[in-house]
Amino acid sequence: MTVRDIEVSNKRVLVRVDFNVPLNEGTGVIADDSRIRAVLPTIKYLIDRGAKVILCSHLGRPQGKVIDKLRLAVVAQRLSQILGQPVKVTKDSIGSDVEKVAEKSKNGDVLLLENVRFHPEEEKNEASFAQALARLADIYVNDAFGAAHRSHASTVGVTKYLPAVAGLLLEKEIKALGSILKNPVHPFAALLGGAKISDKVSMIENIIGKVDYILIGGGMAATFLKAKSYEVGLSLVEQDMVDLAAKLREDTAKRGVRLILPVDVVVADGLSSEAKVNTVSIENISPHLRIVDIGPRTIKNFSEELQRCKTVFWNGPMGIYEIPQFAKGTQAIAELLANLDATTVIGGGSMAEIVTKSGLADKMTFVSTGGGASLKFLAGKALPGVEALLNKGS
Ligand code: 3PG
Repeated sequence: MTVRDIEVSNKRVLVRVDFNVPLNEGTGVIADDSRIRAVLPTIKYLIDRGAKVILCSHLGRPQGKVIDKLRLAVVAQRLSQILGQPVKVTKDSIGSDVEKVAEKSKNGDVLLLENVRFHPEEEKNEASFAQALARLADIYVNDAFGAAHRSHASTVGVTKYLPAVAGLLLEKEIKALGSILKNPVHPFAALLGGAKISDKVSMIENIIGKVDYILIGGGMAATFLKAKSYEVGLSLVEQDMVDLAAKLREDTAKRGVRLILPVDVVVADGLSSEAKVNTVSIENISPHLRIVDIGPRTIKNFSEELQRCKTVFWNGPMGIYEIPQFAKGTQAIAELLANLDATTVIGGGSMAEIVTKSGLADKMTFVSTGGGASLKFLAGKALPGVEALLNKGS
């Protein structure tokens, strides 16, 4: 059930959101507020119906301790600006003082609980902590798709003690990601990048039988190139994944899936904006240099293949996009997908930040707020946060 299926008016509604937003190092300013904007539909839905909204989230990985720079005040401030109404942060996420504040809330008020991960009991999914959260509200709504792969007190435990339903973002994520698994329009391509294959093995294995193309860029391309015995210089290679990369190549060939690797790459002598860069074909990678981006011929090849597709799932940057001179491949691919006449689904890790920064997020069919959660979902695995709601029945 979703928030639409229950009466929320006049009720205290505890909404688990994923406000784990990227913060600029040093300044602590929010680098990308996509995750805040993504839950606005649920928050506004509840405000409009006269609910008392009590938001709870984690931020970072404080490991059960209070870490000042992971306080949620900065998020409350941004949310308040966007909503155009005050958003008060409580001093803690549980306890009698917080219960009093929650009780005093008026219909339409929005309250944000302090970082739930300041308590070690949250990640241990301890019943006492889940009960303490439940005492703050009449109804629980899970709208934290990004944290749905975690079996924590605020995502799973609390559902035992309150009526529990899905929020509008959670529903939208499951529908969008579910549709590319269930009935994608073909040709369907998975465009994969980012540093590591190891994070994505299960996802690749699950989608291999559904896609027509797999295009590999980013750091993980080095491991695939290594598996084909190319010199990859100082590029990060996951040695224990080289055999698996070779096996994935065989599997794709057997299934008639085209696996497309870079034909040229940008190499650099260091990982800084001052590094000397060069574009070389994959046969000519110097042992002293590292791959930092895909090259122009690869961009052209990828573009040609992607232009044939009706569904594209993109996970992982094509290079070390944090350094502007290594971000050209990622930017070119983002622009291409934004203008493609196809269903384009973007998900995982920093992808939302990448497409939002380039101003192209609105031109994609769907940009998932999930990192690990979207990979786990696309790996065909159950998400505990979702399972807990399904187990509630009606
Ligand atoms: C994410 O950023 O993927 C989610 O907020 C989950 O965070 P976690 O990996 O620290 O549990």
